[in-house]
Order: sequence, then C-alpha cells, then structure tokens
Amino acid sequence: MSNLDNLKQEFNKNLSQISNSEQLTALHIKYLGRNGLINDLLKKIKEIPNEEKKQYGTQVNLLKKEIEEKINAKTKELSSKKSDKFFDKTMPGKQYPKGSSHIISYAIEEITKIFEKISFIRVSYPEVDWEYSAFESLNMPKGHPARDDFETSYIDTPPHPKFGKMVLTPHTSNGQNREMRRVKNPPIRMINISKCYRPNWDATHTPMFYQFEGLCVDKDINITNLKGTLDYFAEKYFGRGTKTRLRPHHFQFTEPSFEVDVTCTVCKGSAKVNGKKCKVCKSGWLELGGTGMVHPNVLKEGGINPNEFTGWAFGFGIERVIMMKYGLDDIRNYYGGDIRFLEQF
Ligand code: PHE
Repeated sequence: MSNLDNLKQEFNKNLSQISNSEQLTALHIKYLGRNGLINDLLKKIKEIPNEEKKQYGTQVNLLKKEIEEKINAKTKELSSKKSDKFFDKTMPGKQYPKGSSHIISYAIEEITKIFEKISFIRVSYPEVDWEYSAFESLNMPKGHPARDDFETSYIDTPPHPKFGKMVLTPHTSNGQNREMRRVKNPPIRMINISKCYRPNWDATHTPMFYQFEGLCVDKDINITNLKGTLDYFAEKYFGRGTKTRLRPHHFQFTEPSFEVDVTCTVCKGSAKVNGKKCKVCKSGWLELGGTGMVHPNVLKEGGINPNEFTGWAFGFGIERVIMMKYGLDDIRNYYGGDIRFLEQF
C-alpha cells in the first residue's frame, strides 16, 4: 500500500509545481497516459496475493479518480487565470491576405451598373435552355444553316414536345423571347448576362464564356437610339473619347444587322503607336460584337405587335470587352486560376 501513498504524495508535489497548460498536459500523460504510472500500478495486480487483489484494485481506482479530479480542477484554474503579460490594445491587428472579385465578376458588376443608369433591368436567363428559346424564337427554324454558326452542344435528355431539345445556350439571345414574354407590354429594357457555350478553345475563345445582351423594345425605337446607347456604353466602359461604328452584317434575328467596332484602346483609333502600325488593332478599330434592329418575326414570337413596336438588340462577349479594355492577349488566363494574374485586377 505504501507504494500508492508514495505515488499520491509525488503527484501532489508535481501538481503544486504546475504553472501552465503544457506542464499540465505532461503531468496528465505521466500519471494517466496509456503507459502512465496508474496503469503501471494496475498491471502489477498480477503480483498481489489473491486475497488482497480486490482491495488493491479499489485503492488504485480511487487514486486514479482523485488524480483525474485534481487535474480537471487545475485545468479550470489555469484557463481562468488572466495573463499578467501587458497587452497593448492599441496595437494594429494581424493583416490577413485579402481576396477580391474575379475579373469576370468585376466586369459583370461594372457593365450592370452602366446599363442600370439608363434604366435597363439586369436579368439572367438559363444557360441550359430549349432549342425554342435559343433558335426557333429567333427566326431560326429547325435545320436552318445559321444554327451551325453557333455549333451548339445538346443535352442528352428527351426533347420537349413543343420546345425541342435541350441545349447549352450558345448566346444570350435566348433571353430575348423570354424577356418579351415576361414583360408582355413594352417598354422593355433588358440587360441579360449569362454563361454561353461554343466548342472553341484558343487564345481568344473558351468553350464556356459570358455574354451580355441588351434588348430595347418600345414605340419609335430606331437605329439612332441604338447608336446612342452603344456610344454611351463605349465611353463609360472603355473611357472617354471611345467611338463606335456599325458595319453591315447578317443575323437571322435582326434586320438590319451590324457588327459593332470601337476605337482601339491602345492607339485611340489612330492605328499608329510611336509612328508604327498599332499591333493590337492594325486599323484603329476593334470588333465588339453583333447588333441590329429586332426582326419583326422575333417580336411576333414574343407576343409583341411589330406594327406598334420596334426594338434593337446586341450581344457582346464579356471576356472580349475585358481583353479590349486592358489590352490582354490570352483569354485562357481568366480561367487558369493563376492567382498572380487574377490579383492584378
Ligand atoms: N447572338 C449573337 C452572337 O452571339 C449576337 C447578337 C445579339 C447579334 C443580338 C444581334 C443581336 O453572335
């Protein structure tokens, strides 16, 4: 028995010298750990004469309990003890690295604000949609060769009896019909920003990309309104003095149709940098995207009377406008996840 008394005494002595939690943990291991002193005592039970075994076991367990309780009490005592070290409350806190919006999110926000100022409503229509919204409603019936221009990816699900197959939408123009049906009675001023998909992968194309689509429908809307809006956007987004021009083009869903160029952000439209040809644009102009006056069939399909209302639409790539704004040359950086690139914006 004296063995136990010795251990108890030693424990009490050890405990009285503890002044921090590291020491307390070490003490816990020394006495209560798997190879600790209490377990040693329990293992020794084999050597105890049979008639004393029961009493020995009880005594060891009582001691174990006592040690556990004292250690618990000490733990509480230590954690409630205030540090007597001087703490300077006026010191600045730790600086943690700050994250920021992704370059695309930032551009989406910027574009949304520019159009909200002239009372366009931001919407986001499905990136997985029916053929009807992506094509039929846009004056592109089944089998029309213009559909190939978009090289669409189809989803492997049963087709809808009315709306056709499900597609990864190749442009944000799928929002035109949806918005007409949502608003019902013009005026419509929509800015639809969403992901689009086309199977291209090179320095200026990724298979997934973003577009923003403007749609304006009202009484007496004409090309002058369109040109004015494009000029407004170009000045706000690319900077003062940026000009736009329209070049005749063809889209099934607009008539007339155009491609829009803006003056190059590097040479400011002069086509020259330090007397040499501008490497970014070569001509003073950079192509922004497609636009035009909404085709009467598209208005009709959206439930709008083309004799009463007219409208215009445009669709531009977000990655593209960012590249033009900052003079970037490889779109793949946006999605490469390299923090050194992303941190710059
Ligand atoms: N949807 C066309 C494209 O993705 C762009 C466009 C939108 C053209 C609206 C005219 C009107 O290329």
